[in-house]
Amino acid sequence: MKSTISVLKADIGSLAGHHMVHPDTIAVATKVLSEGKKQGIINDFYPTFVGDDMEFIISHNRGELDQRVHELVWNALKEAASKAKELGLYAAGQDLLSDSFSGNLKGMGPGIAEMEIEERPSEPFVVFMADKTEPGAFNLPLFKMFADPFNTAGLVIDPALHDGFKFEILDVYEGESITLNTPEESYDLLALIGTPDRYIIRRIYRKQDNMLAAVVTTERLNLIAGKYVGKDDPAMIVRVQHGLPALGETLEAFTVPYLVAGWMRGSHYGPLMPVSQKDARATRFDGPPRLVGLGFNLKNGRLVGPSDLFDDPAFDEVRRTANIIADYMRRHGPFMPHRLEPQVMEYTTLPKVMERLKGRFKKEEGTNKVKASIYTSSETNE
Ligand code: F6R
Ligand code: MG
Ligand code: MG
Repeated sequence: MKSTISVLKADIGSLAGHHMVHPDTIAVATKVLSEGKKQGIINDFYPTFVGDDMEFIISHNRGELDQRVHELVWNALKEAASKAKELGLYAAGQDLLSDSFSGNLKGMGPGIAEMEIEERPSEPFVVFMADKTEPGAFNLPLFKMFADPFNTAGLVIDPALHDGFKFEILDVYEGESITLNTPEESYDLLALIGTPDRYIIRRIYRKQDNMLAAVVTTERLNLIAGKYVGKDDPAMIVRVQHGLPALGETLEAFTVPYLVAGWMRGSHYGPLMPVSQKDARATRFDGPPRLVGLGFNLKNGRLVGPSDLFDDPAFDEVRRTANIIADYMRRHGPFMPHRLEPQVMEYTTLPKVMERLKGRFKKEEGTNKVKASIYTSSETNE
């Protein structure tokens, strides 16, 4: 029998600012999901959070984008949002962009990562969840896990990984996708995913048998809503071991606190800091962007676990480095490259400020107009 793992998440309001999910909101959501479990809609679930994002890890047998599962989660989020309103939590209901449910959660605000799989005799997997960043933030570590032999020894040593993987990439601006194979198309892949606000790794398959290995939430709130409604903090499911990257190879990809877009007001680059569940709260400058990793097994459709994977002294030095980088980046204040580049800032609140300067600019005689964006460079080099 096939099982489906669903990670569904939303910011429904949080304590003391965009800081952390309040336990009472998780409690009311848990009640709704428990009822759904009793009714047999889902097999099992684990409610959790990172920063201001409520996250549900769910197992069921209904496949991806299932109406009943999504409606159950929608109801849980709605109840949680009502509780958030009652408690006066900040930005209550923020990610619930629609008033009524219609079919599934796609385009309604919550992030969705789902995989329907044939359960292996032992089915270990990890759910990575980040706050104050965007889905493209997983591009770099996913490349390391599935395509970089300096990270993943199995790509060299294990014949099951040796043939490589297929990466499905979504262009969130054009609404197109492309699939590229590694190792042979690694450089083409990097040419795209090195622009992580636009090209996002959505799914990864093992090449030799098309086995689904990883799925990322790829909803982009700002593009859905057409205005800035917060960064679309991502989550992903990564299956591990036995012909896939080992658990430790997936975690190894997070030993560099590399820079991701997000942090304060969704407008700054900052280091992604892997933390334990107890430290999954946005504090300094609304961050730094944080990552939690929970390790599970799936057995006969039930969740076993989790293990809080970054709750470990082996990641202390990564966190220390992240704090040094955070100090360094912060000293740039409102300057790039701490602040994001202009074409990305278009989706924040900055254009409203720029609007006020309209009419204040005076034409300079003897100068030519050049296009500012690198994406429209053909007219600039004449
Ligand atoms: C970033 C984020 C926060 C807010 C910031 C301002 O994703 O959620 O950094 O952007 O706290 O929030 P408002 O405008 O709601 O006061
Ligand atoms: Mg938020
Ligand atoms: Mg968030």
